[in-house]
Amino acid sequence: MTPAQVSLIRETWRQVVPRADQVAALFYKRLFEIDPSLRELFTEVDLAAQGRRLAKALGDLVAALDSIEDFVPALEVLGRRHVGYGVRDQHYDSVGEALLWTLETGLGPAWTGEAAEAWGAAYRLVVGAMRCDGLPQAPLPPSEAAAQLPTWLCLATAAPGDR
Ligand code: HEM
Repeated sequence: MTPAQVSLIRETWRQVVPRADQVAALFYKRLFEIDPSLRELFTEVDLAAQGRRLAKALGDLVAALDSIEDFVPALEVLGRRHVGYGVRDQHYDSVGEALLWTLETGLGPAWTGEAAEAWGAAYRLVVGAMRCDGLPQAPLPPSEAAAQLPTWLCLATAAPGDR
């Protein structure tokens, strides 16, 4: 990613943050239109709380984009936890499509070709580390995974009793 792309992502993310709750609702609505079978993964989940968790994780990643390679091990662990949630590699494509559509809808004219390219590149980078294709390890049980997460990703996860 170029420094200009990192700035563009931060600038556009700043515009989304004040409306994070609305934007998250839009995201899940679009995601379930793209792949209705994904609803099953979220039946026990409070989508408003989950939307806030996802927004927090994305915000942390946006802040860390300059040194994202430092976070690859944490992202691998997060990806393995997702295997435990029932997430399969192809689901990342549906989430990526829903995320970019949501940003486009939320940002309106601020969503330029450059912004689309920058967000697409950032998403591919993060998901490249999270996808579990080719990983020899079995999915980690959540407690073991949580113990291995660095603080910045633990902060992105639910507080005790929040889930
Ligand atoms: C950039 C990609 C993604 C990021 C940064 C992300 C982030 C997170 C975070 C921070 C959590 C909270 C729990 C934890 O830390 O383990 C979570 C949970 C979850 N995510 Fe993701 N996620 C991503 C992609 C996906 C995809 C592709 C799916 C599949 C549709 C998905 C489905 C879920 C589910 C089902 C949960 C568990 C909710 C629960 O049981 O409370 N995520 N995600």
